[in-house]
Amino acid sequence: MSKILVVHGSPRGDRSTSRRLAEGFLKTWQGLHPEAQVTRREVGRALIPAVNEAFVAAAFYPEPAARPLPMQADLAFSDQLVDELFNHDRLLISTPMYNFSVPSGLKAWVDQIVRLGLTFDHTLDNGVAQYTPLLQGKKALIVTSRGGFGFGPGGELQALNHADPWLRTALGFVGINDVAVVAAEGEESAERTFAVSVAEAEQHLLELARVF
Ligand SMILES: Cc1cc2nc3c(=O)[nH]c(=O)nc-3n(C[C@H](O)[C@H](O)[C@H](O)COP(=O)(O)O)c2cc1C
Repeated sequence: MSKILVVHGSPRGDRSTSRRLAEGFLKTWQGLHPEAQVTRREVGRALIPAVNEAFVAAAFYPEPAARPLPMQADLAFSDQLVDELFNHDRLLISTPMYNFSVPSGLKAWVDQIVRLGLTFDHTLDNGVAQYTPLLQGKKALIVTSRGGFGFGPGGELQALNHADPWLRTALGFVGINDVAVVAAEGEESAERTFAVSVAEAEQHLLELARVF
């Protein structure tokens, strides 16, 4: 049975384009996988803690098996998010582009799930750091919306896009390499121009639902 984890990054609710597109995709996908289990993890409208000093000390404690109880408590929420990710074979992330990157809640979620010894490992090879991803067999879909145009592959602003390409890098770092991206662009352009981009994204998502 498929299990899909839905992570919404927009602080906006019903007015969010990325959230609406992702929920539309989910509806179609659920129609094709009626037995699937869906879990929603809100990171845009709920506070995901930023990494702080206690988190760093606990996460990188040299002997994880002997981590003192207070440190275990500092990692409890992160452990929960990591377990949640492990327990699903599909990941659907919706996010707007914010200042060329993603909203801080989604960044905070990524910081909570990239965990030494849990989702990636670090070893030294002749003094040089080697990183091993620890997640396997997962598929991800990123649904994103942007105010401007041209941030996609081949677009004239592609080099300024640190949103979905960064997310793809972070997911790959923990072992999620099968990642599709669907974007709507131009919310800050004329209504009709944006509507065309949204319709194209919807069509792309309909096609992806069959193979996701
Ligand atoms: C704080 C903030 C920063 C934004 N930064 C960018 C940006 O860097 N590039 C861009 O194209 N649009 C930017 N936008 C516009 C949003 O990406 C756009 O409105 C998007 O469709 C919002 O997605 P949502 O409806 O899912 O929340 C920004 C909007 C806000 C509120």
